[in-house]
Amino acid sequence: MGHPMSPRSEGRLPAATDEPGSPVPALRGRDFLTLGEFTPEELAALLDLALAMKRDWQAGRGGQPLYGKTLALIFEKPSTRTRVSFEVGMQQLGGRVLTLTTRDMQLSRGETIADTARVLSRYVDGIMIRAYSHATVEELADAADVPVINGLTDLYHPCQVMADLLTIREHKGGLAGVTVAYVGDGNNVAHSWLLGAAQFGLRLRVACPEGYEPLPEVVARAQTIARQTGAEITVLRDPVEAVAGADVIYTDVWTSMGQEEEADQRRQVFAPYQVNARLAAHAADDYIFMHCLPAHRGEEVTADVIDGPHSVVFDQAENRLHAQKAILAALLG
Ligand code: CP
Ligand code: NVA
Repeated sequence: MGHPMSPRSEGRLPAATDEPGSPVPALRGRDFLTLGEFTPEELAALLDLALAMKRDWQAGRGGQPLYGKTLALIFEKPSTRTRVSFEVGMQQLGGRVLTLTTRDMQLSRGETIADTARVLSRYVDGIMIRAYSHATVEELADAADVPVINGLTDLYHPCQVMADLLTIREHKGGLAGVTVAYVGDGNNVAHSWLLGAAQFGLRLRVACPEGYEPLPEVVARAQTIARQTGAEITVLRDPVEAVAGADVIYTDVWTSMGQEEEADQRRQVFAPYQVNARLAAHAADDYIFMHCLPAHRGEEVTADVIDGPHSVVFDQAENRLHAQKAILAALLG
């Protein structure tokens, strides 16, 4: 949202809501592009809100704080969880969604991102976008008069990691002192994990093969935040070293969307990084296994681990709904 005092935001009719206003006022009208743009307190407030909203939902309570508001969802890439959880979440908050794919928009015929942002800002109250390039999302956010939410780029997946942190908090009773081992590709999910772990003061060990490490600038940003929060961030090579005594083992696909032509090579490079029973035996006895999904059994994780008693992957998927409802209510409320 580049221009908070745009003409459009003046003179609007107040929305009819059960609970008017943002439940986290400092976040009202802001974008949600990476976990590096917020204070630890703001992110903690979002997680508290997500938990409260989840409890309300489970109890059959919950108002309609976004009654009358509309969220546009723009997809350059496929999605199951992000699409459905944003659509259902917005409906549960009393709002509406428009789901758009870029191939059906004038974007596919050369209309600029900036013009698209300006036009959509005249119709909707917020935009969620899943794009290849992170620069696309930044450009959209700069030109839009409404909050923009990153639903995954090649660099970051912040909504996923908020849901992951909520899941760990539920399964481990809190985040303090938790050790997370991320094993595999230093990709968008790893990048958001670096920033999320830094913000929430976790111990994070990221194990990647040579040439597939997270970007140095993202690691540096995480280290800077970690110095203030007490988080411990390590990037290393050996998956066993990463997993030793860990409370959480996390992995993601070896081949992300857009890298399909590298799949064969990646299967070879990442083979020693498969999360299987032999690797998991090095974790704490009560470790939980996490994966953002979609998963490829037999590649980054074996079926006995992802379908076994330590796996919480479907709790993670559910928590996308609750974490994003909190983000929506805070930004758009
Ligand atoms: N984890 C995740 O973002 O899933 P989708 O690609 O299905 O949205
Ligand atoms: N790293 C994966 C995450 C999918 C949710 C990808 O970008 O395809």
